[in-house]
Amino acid sequence: MTENLKTEVADGIMTLTLSRPEKKNALTGAMYDAMSDGLERAETDPAIKVVLFQGDGDSFTAGNDLADFSAQSSSKDPGESPAFRFISNLGRATKPLVAAVQGNAVGVGTTMLLHCDLVYLADNARLITPFVNLALVPEAASSWLLPARIGHVRAYAMFALGEPMDAATALSCGLANAVVPVADVRSKALAAAVTLTKRPTGSLSHTKALMREHQKIAAKISAESALFKERLQTAEAREAFSAFAERRAPDFSKV
Ligand code: COA
Repeated sequence: MTENLKTEVADGIMTLTLSRPEKKNALTGAMYDAMSDGLERAETDPAIKVVLFQGDGDSFTAGNDLADFSAQSSSKDPGESPAFRFISNLGRATKPLVAAVQGNAVGVGTTMLLHCDLVYLADNARLITPFVNLALVPEAASSWLLPARIGHVRAYAMFALGEPMDAATALSCGLANAVVPVADVRSKALAAAVTLTKRPTGSLSHTKALMREHQKIAAKISAESALFKERLQTAEAREAFSAFAERRAPDFSKV
């Protein structure tokens, strides 16, 4: 349980709202676990037909909490992380996932969208995957799903240069269904979710299964995760996390 993740179920829709706006909805272990609990419940509860993700405040999410990364980076045995559990749940979800995204969607904030079936962006949305800037590697099967969706060079620029992608570009390269004013993004996503609740559940579930290669996604998540864990323990990653905490640019030449 955490106050930073609100779970509501109404009329067939489970809404998961990231609610840590003072930290740009940076994701803590408790928030990942609460989202996993929601996704696991959605899989088995026939009353839930659609899961909708949204975030309070001006950002969808700033991604993994960097203080948590820093702690994992100096821990001898960080164990299986709540982030891994969440990503695995996303990768095997059989019910439709919908997202409403405003402002920054960093790291997993972007890679989770690759697992959503409908994505609505506010016109101020910025998708950012700065894994290499943090001395890490892509996760959530994004090393496969992102280039498959937008092409190798655009994906590489996002991963390796950390280039943000704006909402209009994301729409044009197939990462979103629509771009709307910030004030409308939640209602737009909710309306789509409501429409899905009226579609036949069995047909929706087969359609998603046909469109998603669950086994390949799981294999990619595993391979990435092994490398990600290794990278977290490097001096390069520690330098990146210290630099963020000290509000300075990282200097990888000294490690
Ligand atoms: N982990 C922990 N805290 C975070 C965070 C993160 N990922 N992202 C933002 N915060 C915190 C900041 O430290 C700051 O806290 P403070 O007010 O106590 O100093 C607060 O949230 C506001 O962030 P700030 O950087 O001042 O907001 P901004 O609007 O200038 O920038 C971002 C927003 C998201 C662009 C910027 O915060 C950022 O780049 N965050 C890191 C994103 C990241 O690398 N995530 C990991 C991806 S794998």
